[in-house]
This record gives sequence, C-alpha cells and structure tokens, in this order.
Amino acid sequence: QNARESLYIVSEYAASFFSNELWTGTDGRAIGLSYFKERGFREDILKKFQVGYSPDVWDALIQKAVVSGHKEEYLEKTGLAIRNDKGKLYDRFRGRVMFPIHNFTGRVIGFGGRTLKTDKNVPKYVNSPESDIYHKSNVLYGLYHAKKAIREFDNCYLVEGYADVLAVHQAGIENVVASSGTSLTTEQIRLIGRFTENVTILYDGDAAGIKASLRGLDMILEEGLNVKVVSFPDGHDPDSYMHHVGSGEFKKYIENNRRDFILYKANILLKEAGTDPIKRAGIIRDIIESIAKIPDEIKAAVFIRECSGLLQVEERTLLSELNKMRVAKF
Ligand code: UTP
Ligand code: MN
Ligand code: MN
Ligand code: MN
Ligand code: MN
Repeated sequence: QNARESLYIVSEYAASFFSNELWTGTDGRAIGLSYFKERGFREDILKKFQVGYSPDVWDALIQKAVVSGHKEEYLEKTGLAIRNDKGKLYDRFRGRVMFPIHNFTGRVIGFGGRTLKTDKNVPKYVNSPESDIYHKSNVLYGLYHAKKAIREFDNCYLVEGYADVLAVHQAGIENVVASSGTSLTTEQIRLIGRFTENVTILYDGDAAGIKASLRGLDMILEEGLNVKVVSFPDGHDPDSYMHHVGSGEFKKYIENNRRDFILYKANILLKEAGTDPIKRAGIIRDIIESIAKIPDEIKAAVFIRECSGLLQVEERTLLSELNKMRVAKF
C-alpha cells in the first residue's frame, strides 16, 4: 500500500467518523444535525454529501483513529491532526459541521468545517491544507456528484460555497460545483471543460460575489468556454435564496434570470456609471476587454453585434477597438 493510498484511507476513515458523530453522537445530533435541519437541509442531501460533525474536543478523531490502527503520520499529512510546539497532536476540526471534499472519482481528499458559533473572531470555515492528495487549485467541490448531470445538461453551474452546492442539489439541480477554499483557478475551469463548454455563474449577491463573478467570467472566456450569469437579490446566495423562496421557485428563478455575460456586465457597469458620458465610454472599453478574451473570432463577432445594440454604438467602432486590444495582447 503506497503513501497516497494511506492518505485516502485515513481521510475516508475521518469522513465516516464525522458522519457517525452527526447521526449517532449526542452532541452531533443535538448540535450538528439540528444546525443542518434549522438551515432547511433534507436528510437525503446530508447523506448524499456525507456531511458530519467534529466533536468539540481536542483529540476525538485522533484517539479513535489511532485505536483503529491509523498512523499519526497520515493524520498529520492530511492535516486532520496538527502537532503543537510541545509535540502533541490535536484535531484540526473541533465543534464544526463537516463537509468532506471528494475528488472526481469519489475519494475523500479533504474537508471544510463550518463553525456553529456566531463569534466574528472565529473563522467561519476551516479547510484542510494542501497535501499529497489535495491540490486545491485543481479540485471542484461537488464534481463527483455533478459530473453525470453536467454532461447530460451540457452546462455546469458554478457557486461559491459548500452550502450552495447542497442547496442547489436540494432544488433538484445536480450539475453544480464550487471552487471552495480558493478563488476560481484556470485549472478548475479546464476541469469543467472536460465535461461541458457551458458555465453558469451563481455567485453571492454581495459586493465580494459580484467582484468575483466579473473576474471569473473573464477567466472562463479566456479558456474558450461560454459563460452566463444569474445574480441574486438583496445579498442572497444560492443557498439562502433557495431556502427563502423554496425549491420550485428557485428553479424557475434560475431559468428566467440567466443572462449572457455582456448583459450582466453591462448592467453592473451602467449602474455604477450613471449618466456620466466619460464613464459610459469606459464601460464600452471594459466590455470589449472581456470580448477580446474569447479565442474564437466568430463568437467574438457575435458578441460585438450584441454589444452594439445594447450600448447604441456602431459595430465598426467596437470592432476597431476590439482589434486594437487583440493586437496589444499578442
Ligand atoms: P461565504 O462566506 O459566502 O460562506 O463563503 P457560505 O458558503 O455562504 O457559508 P454559509 O452559508 O454561511 O455556511 C463562500 C465559500 O468561501 C470559503 C468556503 O468554501 C465558503 O463556502 N470560505 C469562506 C472559506 O474557505 N473560509 C472562510 O472563512 C469563509
Ligand atoms: Mn503532489
Ligand atoms: Mn460570500
Ligand atoms: Mn455565501
Ligand atoms: Mn451561504
């Protein structure tokens, strides 16, 4: 048995341990399971994603794992255990609800743990560190559970967080992944590209989410994929919005509010610019910058036409601007 295999095995052991605590532990049920229930998650979804609870004890996992024959070395190498300055091991995850992260063949490679405290000084999520089996930049949370549906619907929904993936599944939409633990990377986009050419961004409707969506859509265009965006009102994220309106309404909302990236970007920028003509000219340039990222020239031309109609600027003006940018780029 090689070293990587040992890391998978101890991670899978930990996932079973946390899950067992959630469903059968006294605190797990009273604290962890109640938490998920209060947030509106159904049991079948919790089981599907193998969520769990880490007891609020220094070494609950380590104790049990070692008794079951797992080596401290592997607990440490997966980051499940941390060694303090005195050389003593303690659990990384304590008193948190646990989201195991699977690779796309379904093996457990890491965890995200959410605090149950409202204290602002406690980090909301603690994540596993990088390890020999967990390379954050090329992992998408939920891909294992989504890949079949991504192929079937020829589209991948992209959300920000663990809870969003679960909530969107609960609404009956299974082609959804999150770039958890890092901001979206090119490797993650290429991973999506193995299953579909179409990405729909469903990021949080707050300032950070909007900013991340603009960055993300440029990166997706650059990889030659098509991108659409659905935005959520009043600072909602997919999870809060799904629980707010219910799964049927949520599905309809997604279908009716999917916009292509130009319309989405133009709307955001136009709101910021108001009636200032100089700022409005800046918007045009900004949108062409996104179009200039599209490798396929025919696709780019189609978007130039749309942009011309939307912003009331002649197509050839936009095209000459586009060509300048392409020249600058190559
Ligand atoms: P959010 O702050 O939007 O959290 O971060 P969330 O997913 O909506 O979580 P809930 O609904 O409050 O439980 C989005 C994602 O960013 C990562 C996590 O992957 C999270 O799901 N994140 C966030 C961290 O890794 N660490 C943090 O402290 C916060
Ligand atoms: Mn490696
Ligand atoms: Mn957020
Ligand atoms: Mn969120
Ligand atoms: Mn949320």
